[in-house]
Amino acid sequence: MTIQDSFGRPLRDLRISVTDRCNFRCTYCMPAEIFGESYQFLPKEEVLTFEEITRLARVFVGLGVNKLRITGGEPLLRTELPQLVAMLYSIDPSVDLTLTTNAYLLPQQAQALKDAGLKRITVSLDTIDDQIFREMNGRGFPVQRVLDGIDSAVQVGLSPVKINAVVQKGVNDHTVVDLARYFKGTGHIVRFIEYMDVGNRNGWKWDHVVSAADIVKQIDAELPLEPVESNYHGEVANRYRYQDGDGEIGVIASVTMPFCGDCTRARLSTDGKIYTCLFASDGMDLRDFLRAGASDDELIERVAGIWNRRSDRYSEERTELAPVQNGRQKVEMYHIGG
Ligand code: GTP
Ligand code: 5AD
Ligand code: SF4
Ligand code: SF4
Repeated sequence: MTIQDSFGRPLRDLRISVTDRCNFRCTYCMPAEIFGESYQFLPKEEVLTFEEITRLARVFVGLGVNKLRITGGEPLLRTELPQLVAMLYSIDPSVDLTLTTNAYLLPQQAQALKDAGLKRITVSLDTIDDQIFREMNGRGFPVQRVLDGIDSAVQVGLSPVKINAVVQKGVNDHTVVDLARYFKGTGHIVRFIEYMDVGNRNGWKWDHVVSAADIVKQIDAELPLEPVESNYHGEVANRYRYQDGDGEIGVIASVTMPFCGDCTRARLSTDGKIYTCLFASDGMDLRDFLRAGASDDELIERVAGIWNRRSDRYSEERTELAPVQNGRQKVEMYHIGG
């Protein structure tokens, strides 16, 4: 079954946040001064169980979803995560099943995740400069720890690995070429992401953004590139390959070239709400509905109804309103995992 939203966009991709906790404190996501020792994360009873997540994911797959991405916070902090992977895999083994992680805990878990049916993995790494990385992750963790995680993914066959790098002007933009060069020829695909105004706590400003066009220009000047066609309709990253045949990179231009027109993504938060946009103010509850005894048909009807009414296109609106920033409340990234 395929359903469409009010702009005719199908539902293809479900991103599932399995915890709102993280072992990093990236300055643009969970700044340490806000997310300190006494910060209250969700209590256990508010968090969806694996059975609940799987039941909801099955509803989404029945409505046309063909990609499930596990996110957080940091998903590897969720106890027994491979068990969830196995449960999601069993819904339909042909579904693209993947996960976004900071890779800190990956060496211990890569094999179990692969065995459970995970197909591939995306690792967040904003820079290859150790000092800058230590500052950006807010905990002083070294780059090597993430590189070890990437190696463990490769060893168990979770490849090609994608590497997500958020680029912020004046913070890590001068290290973009080094990151590209480091992974050139390894088969891993680095994707440079324009810094976005997710949530209300990261102090985002237009002048913190480095455009994807600038990023491509910087890399192309030293490592010549040429554009490549998308892998699939609605792909978020624009692809480029090295002219010498040594691999590819991607840029995600969500600020300067929004892609809402093709957005087929829904997000399920740790506490069981559906967000139909990364920048939504509110999610729509599925958890309490499910816990109150909703049948599968009732769940399908609710999700289909939410999607049919969807009219989100925040990033396009942001561009139209520029440079005026609207003051609206938005969900924080660690609730829905990007
Ligand atoms: P593939 O399945 O490997 O193609 O992954 P993907 O392109 O879905 O990439 P991923 O899930 O790693 O997303 C990369 C980043 O792009 C996210 O962390 C966000 O920063 C950004 N992004 C992804 N989806 C959206 C979206 O719907 N809207 C906006 N504005 N940004 C998004
Ligand atoms: N802008 C762009 N990307 C972001 N991410 C987190 N916050 C932002 C932001 N403000 C990315 C992370 C990770 C993914 C889950 O989302 O770096 O790769
Ligand atoms: Fe954690 Fe990812 Fe947020 Fe960094 S961006 S604090 S790794 S959830
Ligand atoms: Fe989709 Fe919202 Fe991102 Fe636009 S801003 S691409 S509608 S998640």
